[in-house]
Amino acid sequence: MIYFDNAATSFPKPEEVVEAVVGTMTKTGANPGRSGHTQSVRAGEIVFEARRKLAVFFGVKNPMNIIFTSNATEALNLAIKGLLRKGDHVVTTSMEHNSVIRPLKRLESEGYIDITVLEGDEDGVVSVEELEQHVKSRTRAFVLNHISNVTGIVQPLEELCGFCREKGLITIADCAQSAGIIPLDMVKDNIDIVCFAGHKGLYGPTGTGGMVLREGFDHRLIKPLKEGGTGSLSDKEFQPEFMPDVFESGTLNTAGIAGLSAGIDFINSLPEGLGSVQLHKQTLQKYFIDKARKHVPGFITQSSPDGYGVVSFVLEGHSVSGITMKLSEKYGIMSRQGLHCAPLAHKRIGTFPEGTVRFSFSVFNTRQEADFSIEVLKKISESADE
Ligand SMILES: Cc1ncc(COP(=O)(O)O)c(C=O)c1O
Repeated sequence: MIYFDNAATSFPKPEEVVEAVVGTMTKTGANPGRSGHTQSVRAGEIVFEARRKLAVFFGVKNPMNIIFTSNATEALNLAIKGLLRKGDHVVTTSMEHNSVIRPLKRLESEGYIDITVLEGDEDGVVSVEELEQHVKSRTRAFVLNHISNVTGIVQPLEELCGFCREKGLITIADCAQSAGIIPLDMVKDNIDIVCFAGHKGLYGPTGTGGMVLREGFDHRLIKPLKEGGTGSLSDKEFQPEFMPDVFESGTLNTAGIAGLSAGIDFINSLPEGLGSVQLHKQTLQKYFIDKARKHVPGFITQSSPDGYGVVSFVLEGHSVSGITMKLSEKYGIMSRQGLHCAPLAHKRIGTFPEGTVRFSFSVFNTRQEADFSIEVLKKISESADE
């Protein structure tokens, strides 16, 4: 089996991730931050350790600025629905995932906010000039995807967020695809709120993700999505207002968080840390695209050979669903077809409504796998579309 669907969730997970999950379930077992017994305290330490590593990873000093959620979608819903107020204007981009577009569209349809979607250039890349043209006095926030899950294009986060800082706009960055691939520093990159997935480039288990707030960002601007048990201030009928408890009601996914923590250790253990991940993905992407262009008739890609391991493509004369079905059922190659939950991005790049086939690589993918898949794509391309 060849797994090329790492942008959906990475697989396989590193051994240390599996061991951390199993170890938490078999040796620790307890609920973090709830009881005073040693096992509960140990569970709390596991969670704190993960917060500490993530804080370093995102360039924030206070580990309490990391809020755990069950995925990037929940983090984005928390940031968007928690922050926006009636009458706000919001700017976003055509490369957004439905995890951004759908919460925004709901608020817009309820008459709560209005939205401007920046088209960007032909690849969907937005410039400061374009952003500036659409900022109004009511504009409160800019929500932007960092790396597109469709084509892998990278938005110039630092410049765009720097402009927003000057204008007093709050920035929410969807780093679902970039966390674990591009180094993020919330101070240098001028980002107020990062939403990330723990189960993709950070190699944690599914069911992990989070929201990170920049140091000095007033968390009281965000209303919690859920309220309930936190293990703190239990005598009070109101939700605690301090971080991270204000946003983290209910029992945390301790085993998943332990796995995510081990995922970060795995990245840091590579010879150049994140640099090794980048190099591997860039090298494989270039190798695959260059070779597929040469050897696979009708291969057209919407991704750049310089990208970070996300390749969208079509084979002329073949349906994308037919290609992925053959890849999976005849040849054991797992890929994803269609719109990848980002219909606006496909409209922007001209592949709507059929979408594309997407190969997305992890550090575990190899040149041999790329070679085999190119052979297979050549066969599919030369065969009749069924
Ligand atoms: C750009 C982008 N944003 C958000 C998400 C949602 O992530 P999750 O599956 O963790 O909710 C994804 C998932 O593919 C994504 O690619």
